[in-house]
Amino acid sequence: MKYIKITFLLACVLNMPRLMAQSPVLTPGNFENVTIGDQDITFKTTNAYGKIAAYSPAIIRVRLDKKPLGADFSYAVTGTPQKTKVNITQTDDAVILLTDSLKAVIQKKPFSIAFYTTDGKAISQDEQGLGTSWIGESVTTYKKMQDDEHFVGLGEKTGNLDRKGNGYTNWNSDVYGYSVLADPLYSTIPFYAGIHHGLAYGIFLDNTYQSDFNFGASNNRFSSFGARGGEMNYYFIYHKKMADIISSYTYLTGRMPLPPLWSLGYQQNRYSYYPEAEVMRIAQTLREKRIPADGITLDIHYMDRYQLFTWNKSRFPDPARMNANLNKMGFKTTVIVDPGIKVEKGAPAYESGLKQDVYIKYPDGTQYTAQVWPGWCNFTDFTSEKGRAWWRNQVKFFAESGVSGIWNDMNEIATWGQKIPDNVLFDYDGKPTTHLQAHNVYGMQMVRSSYEGALQNFKERPFILSRSGFAGMQRYSAIWTGDNRAEEDHMLQGVRLLNSLGMSGISFTGMDIGGFTGNPTTSLYTRWMELGAFIPYFRNHTALNTRAAEPWAFGEDVLDIVRKYISLRYELMPYIYSSFYESTQTGMPVMRSLAINYTFDPKVMDATYQNQYEFGNGIMVAPFESTAAFGKVYFPEGNWYDLYTGTEQKGGQEVTIPLKVDKLPVFVKGGSIIPMQSLVQSTSEMPTDTLSVHVYNGSKANHYVYYEDDGKSFGYQKGDFYKRAITFDPDKHTITFDKADGNYKSHFKYIRVVLHGFQQSASVKTGNDKLNLQDSAIAFLGATANTDPQGSAASSETCPVKYVTIGNAANRIQLNF
Ligand code: NOJ
Repeated sequence: MKYIKITFLLACVLNMPRLMAQSPVLTPGNFENVTIGDQDITFKTTNAYGKIAAYSPAIIRVRLDKKPLGADFSYAVTGTPQKTKVNITQTDDAVILLTDSLKAVIQKKPFSIAFYTTDGKAISQDEQGLGTSWIGESVTTYKKMQDDEHFVGLGEKTGNLDRKGNGYTNWNSDVYGYSVLADPLYSTIPFYAGIHHGLAYGIFLDNTYQSDFNFGASNNRFSSFGARGGEMNYYFIYHKKMADIISSYTYLTGRMPLPPLWSLGYQQNRYSYYPEAEVMRIAQTLREKRIPADGITLDIHYMDRYQLFTWNKSRFPDPARMNANLNKMGFKTTVIVDPGIKVEKGAPAYESGLKQDVYIKYPDGTQYTAQVWPGWCNFTDFTSEKGRAWWRNQVKFFAESGVSGIWNDMNEIATWGQKIPDNVLFDYDGKPTTHLQAHNVYGMQMVRSSYEGALQNFKERPFILSRSGFAGMQRYSAIWTGDNRAEEDHMLQGVRLLNSLGMSGISFTGMDIGGFTGNPTTSLYTRWMELGAFIPYFRNHTALNTRAAEPWAFGEDVLDIVRKYISLRYELMPYIYSSFYESTQTGMPVMRSLAINYTFDPKVMDATYQNQYEFGNGIMVAPFESTAAFGKVYFPEGNWYDLYTGTEQKGGQEVTIPLKVDKLPVFVKGGSIIPMQSLVQSTSEMPTDTLSVHVYNGSKANHYVYYEDDGKSFGYQKGDFYKRAITFDPDKHTITFDKADGNYKSHFKYIRVVLHGFQQSASVKTGNDKLNLQDSAIAFLGATANTDPQGSAASSETCPVKYVTIGNAANRIQLNF
């Protein structure tokens, strides 16, 4: 015994230096070998395996793992490597990948990577001594914090526009009534942009485990990103412009499909409208009070005891008839679905899912059961093709009831108690895994199933909405920011959440206008509804047990203001729809933080101006608390016009403006082209035959794409669209309408060119024909219940303009001014 003890002690002492030297942090170590391909390298280091590949001249992907790299699989990325010219050279110390836009220098001893512009400016470098490392299964990459570096993006994250000094976690969570500093919220978009020295880059971490980002929180040395498992797998993107970074990111993760036009109209919602008579009362009141609207949304009470794929027949005896009646009135119906399916013997949907074995399970093969609205539930495995196929077939139920939109709620997954056991298993498309890896993509795979199910079963373009999501969800669904509060700072925080989502590839976004929990003050409600007219998904929603929040619920004065703003949105519909179209093509969000177009202007990061944003290409919104009497607005470079009065403002200035609760500060950039139509009460109604194209004088040329189609079918995919480039060129003194493109016939017979800020010009010419300009004054908030939509009677403010009306001929039209 004594002998054994002595030998043991001796062994410990002899091994001491080795034990002490073994760090709990594992680094890749030095290069051992490298294989050079056409546009990638594959290598092994002392402790890791890796691959670095160019996806385009601007995108380089980095993969590293402790074990040989597994099969390549991603829920987020659908973009494939483009054939790219890459010059790959190597020395004893480094391998260099050089594309037309970017240079990646990979040091061999030890492994590290740095990205430079082709003329040698450092864009992003691994922090020397930290680089990439593992602690257990967690992997993190540390990047040197550059001087005066700022960070934006990361999707649905609270806090400031500039994320510097903060850390964030991605773990999709059900956060009822969250605070304006809460983290994480409902979705995970692990993509951000860094900005320094006039350079900007994007990093997308494609890993579905819990991920953590640090932008200099509690440290002055690095920014970092990492995940609690899986590979270090990220894409580095460099372009000169932020818009191009977003375009490359959405090349990788996809762009939204063209939504149905009705989903851009006003949506009326509450938790919950029932029975049928109440739904019809809401719809009728919207029409009677001349509040334009397109959607009615049904929350969980439409179901029979919250059971999925059922209607509560005493509340909704004939849903197909009700929805058909709503359609006739110009409304589309959206219904809520949750992932939890009530465990109830004999319930058809539940039994069918059981029979087809689609529910997630524990390792011992029993279904995972947890509580949510209907009581004890099972949950479809949306990460399996079998589960998705089952759900797609269930969606037929909604098609048969005449439903047009599917609102996917509680898909984080939310269960009472929130903490889903780690050992719940998911198929993960044939690569079985635990909840730890599948959690963050569950919601996205649910909306994928709903979207594909709707494509399979609906006759027209579907509208899909989600609370939870992951990078790439924009291919299937819009998102809203969940259970916000009826508080001033929530309204402004909401603006930043949507702006950040936009910079992270998700264009179709909304928040509960008016606030979900609690009751807004009258002024807050008013301001929030005004703002709603300028956000992509405009839905008024409120919780159970809160006061009514329909536009008429706060009295006549508020109703008047709200009606004007909703009407303005409908008049702007051609502009809004064209902005959505642009987003489907380039990924450019509809709601644009100033950090997109004015990335290197330091004022943009200033907390005073961080809520300002552009809505589409030209309109700038400056949101303020409803109680403020004055507000400071920053006008970036260029010239700007007050939307309502036409007053011009020079760019590059900070200006204090008076605020009134009946008016949201909105400005238009010089050079903008803004197509508008006459007022309609629903997008299903035809506007008059004249499209008003507002052109704002400025010193920079603008090339705008106007887009139109039937707003509902898939015909546009076969060329049934009407697309027309419109160019304003101040140097040539021309406004040009290119030849119309596509097979669709425009709704508009005439184009009214409305000139703002062109005081000096008394006439315009097309060819040799001189057209006389007419003087007029437009009331952008002119629409009231009984007045002419173009009229100015009801508005206190008008904007002086000159205009000329021309035919909408399909050939090229040039106006000289
Ligand atoms: C939670 C959602 O966030 C909310 O919008 C909805 O009204 C409730 N669930 C009830 O379905």
